[in-house]
Amino acid sequence: MVYDYIIIGSGIAGLNAARLIPKSKKVLILCKKSPWECNTFYAQGGIATAVDDTDISDHIQDTLTAGANYNDKEAVEVLSKNSLECIKDLIDNGLEFDLNDKGELAFTKEAAHSRSRILHADGDATGRMMHLFLLSQCKHDIETNAVVNDLLIKDDICYGVQYFVSETEEKTAYAHNTIIASGGIGSIYKYHTNSTAIAGEIQGICAEKGLALKDMEMMQFHPTVFKGTSFARKTLLSEALRGEGAYIVDENNYRFLFDYHKDGELAPRDVVARAIFDYFHKTKLLIYLSFDNFEKTFFRKRFPNIYANLDDLGYDLPFEKVPISPAFHYAMGGIQTDINAKVLKMKNLYAIGEAACSGVHGANRLASNSLLEGIVFSKIAVSNSMEENFKISYENYTSIIKSYVRNQNIDKDIKNILRKIMWDNAAIVREESKLNDSLKQIETFLKEDVGRLLFLRLLTAKSILIAAIDRKKSLGAHFIKEKQC
Ligand code: FAD
Ligand code: SIN
Repeated sequence: MVYDYIIIGSGIAGLNAARLIPKSKKVLILCKKSPWECNTFYAQGGIATAVDDTDISDHIQDTLTAGANYNDKEAVEVLSKNSLECIKDLIDNGLEFDLNDKGELAFTKEAAHSRSRILHADGDATGRMMHLFLLSQCKHDIETNAVVNDLLIKDDICYGVQYFVSETEEKTAYAHNTIIASGGIGSIYKYHTNSTAIAGEIQGICAEKGLALKDMEMMQFHPTVFKGTSFARKTLLSEALRGEGAYIVDENNYRFLFDYHKDGELAPRDVVARAIFDYFHKTKLLIYLSFDNFEKTFFRKRFPNIYANLDDLGYDLPFEKVPISPAFHYAMGGIQTDINAKVLKMKNLYAIGEAACSGVHGANRLASNSLLEGIVFSKIAVSNSMEENFKISYENYTSIIKSYVRNQNIDKDIKNILRKIMWDNAAIVREESKLNDSLKQIETFLKEDVGRLLFLRLLTAKSILIAAIDRKKSLGAHFIKEKQC
């Protein structure tokens, strides 16, 4: 059987694409673990949108300024101009954003936004509420524990996918259109905010097949995660906290961010993350997020989940300050797409959401533009594919379908070394010599008999390192330390 669509991923991008594809079409949605194990589910702060038509130009400008003007301007315009209609469509279909005392939509502010334009749901559980809504609207089949390990590509046509369904079993599925919505790359860094399902395998497949990856050096580090746990996945302390009054201090209560940028804690995310990194390395002082501007009842109502999470960890918010550090958060770079969300040079392969690089975020993503990107570009991918109505003849896929080994015994150790290498050498501050050494190490690992999933992650890491080596000057999130003379 040939599906009309295969969608890889059940986050906001994949599920919104599925929502917009009519029930009459045969659609297969694949996801690695359970449907809700994705970054979307963990999103806290909210979803950015132009507040009204008069705000579109400012939203565009804020996105470009945060992105160091490295963004694709056309893509940014598409994002902002479509935001009002896309948000209205979600609300009309039953998604409930938080309202203010007057019963109007409540907009909050986050760093580098020139005004309050971020919608949120259930306080600080925007991702969870949006994901639950999209799942409740899903009329197509979702296959869980399906880990895509190859794309069936020949002559610029994607015929479908191959995927693991267990440690040893694989399946193949064919489709007229394939939509990649597999998210970012978080698990290849030692410390990150991401879901454990997110490890960049599909970007690795694209690298292997010679499909274009773009801006892979542009990796975003969130400035404020809770520092006190030993897990790789760190608890996020949303930027909306700073947007509404939380601030960063050292252990002597000195508010040092203003020494780095006139906007202090509300400077663009790359600036704040780098300032924390630099201040800590210079002073060795511990760094905290302080909430003492907040009134208790308001705080607990506005940020109920952060309150509960930190309560579990032994902190009584808003009365106590919390130790923080930056951690890997988001991939601006990814699979290069055109303005129709189509993968470059491909006839029927789309990439949307964090997996894609549409150019919308430039060198540094403006807070809360990612959920919006997922909604806007999934709609564009569905409209474009319906209009083009491309059909494959699956008999034309004559290449041999290889069988892969999912994991090998040596994988665990190499995986841990990979994460450490990326955190130590390809994170907030980079040095050319260390990037080159890391690349050599990754190339050595690629020659070992590793399992298929690790092999793909190594290819993704390699593409990040090569892109970082190629960009000699700092730009946005890519900060390269000058050589000492
Ligand atoms: P995801 O939601 O990550 O979904 C990816 C899907 O792909 C998953 O279903 C996964 O199982 C599947 N998948 C991955 N690999 C494979 C494979 N090999 N085979 C099969 N399936 C695969 N952005 C905002 O705009 N606002 C916020 O407030 C915000 N807060 C955030 C908070 C946290 C803690 C994090 C981690 C991110 C936050 N972001 C926020 C970023 C945003 O949540 C993500 O960029 C966005 O949700 C990505 O959506 P997506 O659909 O592209 O991917
Ligand atoms: C946050 O809530 O701080 C995350 C927002 C984002 O990543 O856009």
